[in-house]
Amino acid sequence: MKNRIESKSEVDVSLKDLCKRFGDFTAVSDLTLEVHKGEFLTFLGPSGSGKTTTLRMIGGFETPTAGEVYIQGELANDKPPNKRATRTVFQDLALFPHMAVGGNIEYGLSFQGLNKKERKTKALKALELVDLEGLYERKVATLSGGQKQRVALARALVTEPPILLLDEPLGALDEKLRERMQGELKNLHKRLGITFIAVTHNQEEALTMSDRIAIIDRGRLEQVATARELYESPKSEFVADFIGVANIIRGKIIEDNAGVKKLLSDGLEFFIPSKEGFNIGDNAILVVRPERIEIGDKARKSNNSFSVRVRNIFYKGAYLEYYTVLESSQEIRIRVESKSSSQDTSADYKTTIGWNESDSVVLTREPK
Ligand SMILES: Nc1ncnc2c1ncn2[C@@H]1O[C@H](COP(=O)(O)OP(=O)(O)OP(=O)(O)O)[C@@H](O)[C@H]1O
Ligand SMILES: [Mg+2]
Repeated sequence: MKNRIESKSEVDVSLKDLCKRFGDFTAVSDLTLEVHKGEFLTFLGPSGSGKTTTLRMIGGFETPTAGEVYIQGELANDKPPNKRATRTVFQDLALFPHMAVGGNIEYGLSFQGLNKKERKTKALKALELVDLEGLYERKVATLSGGQKQRVALARALVTEPPILLLDEPLGALDEKLRERMQGELKNLHKRLGITFIAVTHNQEEALTMSDRIAIIDRGRLEQVATARELYESPKSEFVADFIGVANIIRGKIIEDNAGVKKLLSDGLEFFIPSKEGFNIGDNAILVVRPERIEIGDKARKSNNSFSVRVRNIFYKGAYLEYYTVLESSQEIRIRVESKSSSQDTSADYKTTIGWNESDSVVLTREPK
């Protein structure tokens, strides 16, 4: 283990083969990842996937069982939280309800040897950052959920940390406020220019706020990429299924009479995007997003064109969602923009659906 790694200056946090076990249970497994300076990176994954544990190892609240945490190039495994360039906003905020807002924020400065006036000046500045001017004297217990959230942010920001860690930062808020705060957090990140590392199980939140998203499942890092890359080029079935809605068609790679590789699934043959590394007989899945599929006459022009029965059509405001079934009994969901109020939503008829192979992704099938 080296104490210092050759760090490109733009890497703020580097995790190397990070593991955390609790007894026999492995919560985080061989996690390797670099977070760039000034980046907004979000860990996203189902409940229990190891997101909080990973964040706590970065912040110094949990010791890795194996592997290393480097912060700004320095090995940090054994450094206490207050000796790291990180500050954490905890999911439960950990505010003192009976103290005033000002006192809560200044608590963050208690070890910095500042006098009362200096502390107050800094606290007022931090309050301004989170749009809470004028609330310095208020008791925390009298604040709304969103205001408390901002006080917790201000308390972390008042020390001007280079790296801010946020565990489910908007978890306690109702949906409307959550949406508004997503935009505000993103703006705050832009204004401050520091590194934000957040954790959420809310997909929409991750997609809206982050520069890159690290998808984590059962303690393993599945993919780190931008929202668009995750959606359009998922690297695994888990990611394809976890981000947005995906039609997943399972089958085997075959070669048709013309020597073209296709996916054979329950008697139907699908054109697949050409990709290296697939052999005849391999198990594979085809992923097609619902909005990439045409329905009706224009679907006949696509090279993957199939007859289906439309089982249900749901009006969803901005789009109509069709639940259709292929002759192989495979269900295919399709989303069509709702354009006019006259679109018919009565179901149970036969029609054609289609997509071009370039609108799909082919992946190796994971062993179940
Ligand atoms: N101190 C601990 N002792 C034993 N098991 C733990 C401990 N902390 C976490 N775990 C387990 O490790 C796994 C990962 O927990 P973690 O809190 O990191 O999940 P998470 O991804 O943050 O989930 P959530 O979205 O529900 O917050 C869980 O199964 C959890 O029960
Ligand atoms: Mg958690």
